[in-house]
Amino acid sequence: MTLPNPYDYRDPFAGVSPLFVERWSPRAFDSTPIDPDTLQRVMDAARWSPSCFNEQPWRFHTATDATFDQFVELLQEGNRGWAQHAGVIGFLSVLTRFRHNGKANASAELDCGAAWMAMSLQARMEGLYTHAMAGIDHAAADRYFGLDGEQQRVLIGFVIGYPADRGQLPDNLRQREQPSARKPLAEIWQRY
Ligand SMILES: Cc1cc2nc3c(=O)[nH]c(=O)nc-3n(C[C@H](O)[C@H](O)[C@H](O)COP(=O)(O)O)c2cc1C
Repeated sequence: MTLPNPYDYRDPFAGVSPLFVERWSPRAFDSTPIDPDTLQRVMDAARWSPSCFNEQPWRFHTATDATFDQFVELLQEGNRGWAQHAGVIGFLSVLTRFRHNGKANASAELDCGAAWMAMSLQARMEGLYTHAMAGIDHAAADRYFGLDGEQQRVLIGFVIGYPADRGQLPDNLRQREQPSARKPLAEIWQRY
């Protein structure tokens, strides 16, 4: 049996902005530093995201040169090898309660996802790519940033960087280094 080519399922409708379609999550990064103004624009894009009660429950934590290696240590083994080559490494944490009444904010993670995507798309506009990582040591990351794990906790790690030749990756990752497939629109959009 012939396996389907994943590119068969990268079939955006005409008119969908390439900004969306050309975003993907590479693992081959070159360690060219990201200039501070560019990084500031990338992070600032997150700030304009919508959130329930305008809570803005996202918090981004990025490493400096002094802490870069410590951040890498907070990743799971499988992510460390490739992520350490990106220009910027960071973590995204969530504030889980509303400031105005202290109640649980059921939408906080959704809001963080929106902020993450805004940041990722601004990165694309700057010639950069992002890659999110759930594969982190969550408890160690919470401890590192002094978070209690309940009112505020780390959701994901991430990198931002310039793309590099996939040849720098080990075999197993090199084969996967391509934009991934998408479900058909009809599967994710139902009209009633
Ligand atoms: C919340 C989240 C967690 C992820 N965790 C990891 C991870 O730990 N390691 C990894 O290599 N990729 C990780 N990814 C990348 C996904 O595998 C990737 O986004 C997905 O396959 C879709 O591909 P694309 O982003 O290239 O379009 C994660 C993505 C998201 C959004």
